[in-house]
Amino acid sequence: MKDTIMFCGKGGVGKTTCAAATALHYAAEGKETLIISTDLTPSLRDIFELENDANKEKPARITKGLYLDEIGSEEVKEMWDNKFGAEVYEVFSSFVDIGYAEFIDFVASMLPGIRDEFMVDYIRELSESGRYERIVWDTAPAGQTLGLLRMPSIVNAHLKPAPRIYAKLRTSKKRKRSILEVIKGWDELSTKDIDFLKNGVEFNLVTIAEALAVRQLDGIFGEFQSHGLNIDHIIINQVVTEPDSSFLQSKASMQQSYISEIATRYRQNQRIILPLFPYEIKGIAKLKEVESVLFSNDYSVSPYPP
Ligand SMILES: Nc1ncnc2c1ncn2[C@@H]1O[C@H](COP(=O)(O)OP(=O)(O)OP(=O)(O)O)[C@@H](O)[C@H]1O
Ligand SMILES: [Mg+2]
Repeated sequence: MKDTIMFCGKGGVGKTTCAAATALHYAAEGKETLIISTDLTPSLRDIFELENDANKEKPARITKGLYLDEIGSEEVKEMWDNKFGAEVYEVFSSFVDIGYAEFIDFVASMLPGIRDEFMVDYIRELSESGRYERIVWDTAPAGQTLGLLRMPSIVNAHLKPAPRIYAKLRTSKKRKRSILEVIKGWDELSTKDIDFLKNGVEFNLVTIAEALAVRQLDGIFGEFQSHGLNIDHIIINQVVTEPDSSFLQSKASMQQSYISEIATRYRQNQRIILPLFPYEIKGIAKLKEVESVLFSNDYSVSPYPP
């Protein structure tokens, strides 16, 4: 059972909007739901119209059964430090002379990949904790997010020769063993993260019916496939469904040709059309309208099975 539902896609296509509407849906069904963002410039608080100084606790409660967690870059650094900092430092400082605080800064700024892996790991732990019945995962625009999906397998591959290298280091036997144990621990962690992405996460790709967005789909699908991951649904957002002016008619017919192209190229993926609303989508009442389309009873176009 996939309890984590991720939304990805290029910038500004409606990932956060779809994620927020989906989270509301599950909470309304009575499921304890967490909406979490790995976008370092997150906008969930805005879309739910949470005052900045209200609900400071983490996760913040939005409504009954619905909680929000946004991970900013400082928090990532702090959480990473708490969980891995000392271990990684032990390995690193065995061959580089560096102070601990400096090392943590270095990791946070120079190795975004480690930060990405940490985010996947953080969400996996949340999922395994069983604290929530649904975790809705809002992501940063496609580029960064694909890096995030790639990370566990890169770490995994890089760690393969590590024991051989460390075995040659001139350190004491005891220290060598502890380093090898640490490396083994990371290796197992990366394997767990890969399994989580494969078996625990449902992926929804949000796009719009325009040339650039459609052209990028192939690349995104290719990336997912190369990691053995499937895209469960394609959400085509901001589609003009009531073209009552020549301006909108022209836009609608342009969109229809891209919608047909998507339908032909990705016929095996379930597709959902989300109309362009005449207002911005902010606050629970507006999000409910998005939810009603995403979860319409017509399962041929609905994102989720009954
Ligand atoms: N179907 C829609 N109709 C009208 N406005 C929409 C629709 N979908 C999204 N929007 C608006 O488009 C803007 C961008 O949406 P959103 O923030 O969800 O995109 P995003 O993909 O999360 O962006 P980013 O890549 O910056 O995180 C918001 O102002 C939102 O209200
Ligand atoms: Mg967003």
